[in-house]
Amino acid sequence: NSDLTVTNRNGKKVIILGAGIGGMTAAYELGKAGYDVTILEARDRAGGRNWSIRRGTTSTEIGASKQVARFDDGMYLNAGPMRIPQFHVTMEYCREFGVEIEPFNNVNDSAYYYNENAGTLSGKKIPKRAAKADMRGYVSEMLAKAIDQKALDLPITPEDKIKLVNYLKVEGDLDEDLFYRGSERGGYKDEPGSRLDAGVLRDPFDMKAIIGSGFGNFFSSEYSYDQQMMMFHPVGGMDMIAKAFEKRVGHKIKYHAEVTEIRQSSTGVRIVFNDLDKNTAKEVSGDYCICTIPLSVLKSIPADFSPDMAKAISSVGYASAGKIGLQFKRRFWEEDEQIYGGNTLTNMDITSIYYPPTKYFSKKGLLLGYYAFGSNADKLGKMSYQEREKLALMQGAKIHPQYYEEFQASFSIDWKKIKYNLGGWVAYSSDDRKTYYPTLCKPDGRIYLAGEHISYITAWQAGAIESARSVVTDIHQRVMKE
Ligand code: PHE
Repeated sequence: NSDLTVTNRNGKKVIILGAGIGGMTAAYELGKAGYDVTILEARDRAGGRNWSIRRGTTSTEIGASKQVARFDDGMYLNAGPMRIPQFHVTMEYCREFGVEIEPFNNVNDSAYYYNENAGTLSGKKIPKRAAKADMRGYVSEMLAKAIDQKALDLPITPEDKIKLVNYLKVEGDLDEDLFYRGSERGGYKDEPGSRLDAGVLRDPFDMKAIIGSGFGNFFSSEYSYDQQMMMFHPVGGMDMIAKAFEKRVGHKIKYHAEVTEIRQSSTGVRIVFNDLDKNTAKEVSGDYCICTIPLSVLKSIPADFSPDMAKAISSVGYASAGKIGLQFKRRFWEEDEQIYGGNTLTNMDITSIYYPPTKYFSKKGLLLGYYAFGSNADKLGKMSYQEREKLALMQGAKIHPQYYEEFQASFSIDWKKIKYNLGGWVAYSSDDRKTYYPTLCKPDGRIYLAGEHISYITAWQAGAIESARSVVTDIHQRVMKE
């Protein structure tokens, strides 16, 4: 992108729709090259889905009443993005802007799995380390025995079979006879201590119980490429990133500017917007437009898109996602249960509980009482704020009975019901990627789409940033050729 550092001798003007991370990246990068940039933003804040809920934050979901965050000062809930993989470009912007980061603890074997209607372990909170040790132990045992008994017709040499069995012995912590009989990896029922106190290992669950529990299906969540440790988040809230961008491009943002029409001709673009402060229609014109409005919202805005583009925009679905923040007056998960960050996973509606990966040992704490997707998110989203809180407490208390005693305040979000978002993130089917996506990636006349939805890093800030950078490069190349 080094050619972007040249100044914009031709004074081209770019109108950017949306001051989320994508829109602000575009403005920041175009600004470096001296372009004349205006961002239209419907809200009174920048950041889009990068949104940290703090004391006094309000939201009014579609068809619902107003919600006010009653958290203590200093407490926050990252309603949108909350974690960043090490290899995402988002990290580079944190570095460039001096945004302080700390680890986001995405993995913690002291946290629990808890399932209902899942055999003999139903309704029991099981430390992840116990479930992992037993499941891996039994699966390794079965495989090792199958290989040993030549039951598998493997195309490998006898020497390699021995190596494979040796690996499974280590992987599953098997005895010499290839039986799994429990492992220190699963923890103790009586901790080891000083002098003669060797501790007592826990008894493994029987194979039927651990298979029936379904816990094994949870393991892979922490294996996926973009969920592996290390992960990071900004100290003080994810919106530190939004604020860092805003510091640099904020003077170019028109807030309370709700886009109502997107027009273009062969010579330029014209954007009509409602100035929400004065409730009057206004417009701005420019040479190009970068539109970062989510497709779920964009599809209802009158616009001069080609028929192909209009069809693509209106054909793609968005994912449901919802969160609730619960403030507790005591960090009982740390004090009583020695859980410092990470998450508990469950097949209840709440799906997961995330323990705060920051400010360990402090007095109060704000945990993520649910982070739900799909039909779970829809079910929670349909409820009132009070009903969501009630359900989060009721289901969470099955895992942490301290909930009721220590609870102070909640704030919940259903992204499908948040105006100007109407969804968590784009949800392309593999068919959509073939049929509609290529169209969305191409400029439509003078309008370029950007955002997480114009990437293969959907549901991440990095997708928004990368797509904005691609569009800025395209526009600059086009302008240089003009
Ligand atoms: N990026 C979001 C998150 O980390 C959504 C997501 C979840 C993406 C799981 C990939 C995998 O929560």
